[in-house]
Amino acid sequence: MLKNPDALPLDRFPAHVRDYLIPRYSGDVVYECIGCGMTAGLDRFLYTCPQCKSLLRLRDRAFDELKKVPGSLWREIFDFRRMLTLEPLRGIFLFKEILFPTIPLEDVVYLGEGHTPLVRANAALSKQVGLEFFVKNDGLNPSASFKDRGMASAISFINYSIRTRGITELLGICASTGDTSAAAALYLSYLDKNIVRSVVLLPQGKVTPQQLSQPLGSGATVIEVPGVFDDCMRIVEELAERYQVCLLNSKNPIRIMGQKSYAYEVAQQLGYDTKHLVVIVPVGNAGNVTAIMEGFLDLYRLDIIPELPCIVAVQSSHANPVAVWRARGEYIPMKVRPSVAQAAMIGDPVSFPKVRWLVEEHFSDRFFAVEVNEQEIIEHMLQANRCGHVVCTQGGESIAGLCKAVASGIVEKNQTVVVDSTSHQLKFANFQDMYFRNAFPPEYEITPRDDLINKPIALPASADAIASFLKLKEK
Ligand code: F0G
Repeated sequence: MLKNPDALPLDRFPAHVRDYLIPRYSGDVVYECIGCGMTAGLDRFLYTCPQCKSLLRLRDRAFDELKKVPGSLWREIFDFRRMLTLEPLRGIFLFKEILFPTIPLEDVVYLGEGHTPLVRANAALSKQVGLEFFVKNDGLNPSASFKDRGMASAISFINYSIRTRGITELLGICASTGDTSAAAALYLSYLDKNIVRSVVLLPQGKVTPQQLSQPLGSGATVIEVPGVFDDCMRIVEELAERYQVCLLNSKNPIRIMGQKSYAYEVAQQLGYDTKHLVVIVPVGNAGNVTAIMEGFLDLYRLDIIPELPCIVAVQSSHANPVAVWRARGEYIPMKVRPSVAQAAMIGDPVSFPKVRWLVEEHFSDRFFAVEVNEQEIIEHMLQANRCGHVVCTQGGESIAGLCKAVASGIVEKNQTVVVDSTSHQLKFANFQDMYFRNAFPPEYEITPRDDLINKPIALPASADAIASFLKLKEK
């Protein structure tokens, strides 16, 4: 039950922020086509423009209203709001006015997502990389990846739509390299099972056992098909085109709304000082990097931050269409090869048109893309995790990308650097295991280094045997 906002003890907050603490603004959010500019109301689920088939984004046509509040006051509102004990504002909806103002607080579904820690990279790791940096641990979300951010906004919207549109049947579906399906299945399973069904489509053998266990555990219908993610994506796109299903991939712009919270949190965690900020993001389907750019734009437009950050997109050389586009100016969908950054192993990112649009409009001199190889990805993950971090292979990809960006002069020592570790180390334990057992098939092009291998040691169940093995000194 939602606590009555009016009953909260607001008088302990400074008078000038009190009236803003409970968000009352609901905006005028519409779907807008990034191709022809068509707009449509939110009273239906749309994923592409009915007229020209381009991607959609969500735009708040009343956004300028928010400019009546100065940036300095917004900063205080968001900071003080963290002290409120109001459940819907505990997660990504802390930033409700700019995140997605349409959804009433009573419909917000909060499962503990957001506010993931920004952890200073350990000294040895920083030395190795060549500068100090922070890791944003998005693996510490409920389903252990950043996808929970977008899923919280999408499922809150579904919850709101069920209540206000009298929907009695809804089938949520997504294609996934593993993490979207884990998040979708988790959040959908929280809703009323008499109304909501949950289906995920996975490329057979190309998600990790941990990722596969997640939608199974949440009770979703899990369908495995031959091929790679791009094949699954084409199928769900066709299903969403022809049948009454609710598409939960980031092609659904409502997912992007929640994922913008990554940018808001980074800004808040840095005291809103985004001067000389660089954000390093691993790119697969390109939903995340799109959302992060959109999030920083919101903050910049409202004067909440002084400067847009630089964005460094990182891709494996086995799945690099965005890096190739940035280097050569031409976008060519590609056939992917096996990658340890398997969650980002995508040859034709659905959100690429949005990336191009955002880069051309707002980030032209602030968007870089670097390419890293498989050996670099896995070893940066292993090295980071030996230094007190819990990064996944995509986090390893980000750190490897940071090294490349430092070497090529894109990132310099005086900058503040945030690396996105998009999921938890444990989701990709099988790749660590393959490294430690030297068991990678040749197409990964990975040769383990002895000094990075670690294995369990079997010893007798005896203190003497263990002390002798460890060469312990007696007291
Ligand atoms: N990191 C992780 C852990 C991911 O799961 C993904 C994408 C990415 C990075 C790339 O992000 O697609 O927004 O560019 N995973 C999707 C999925 C495709 O189905 O779970 P992106």
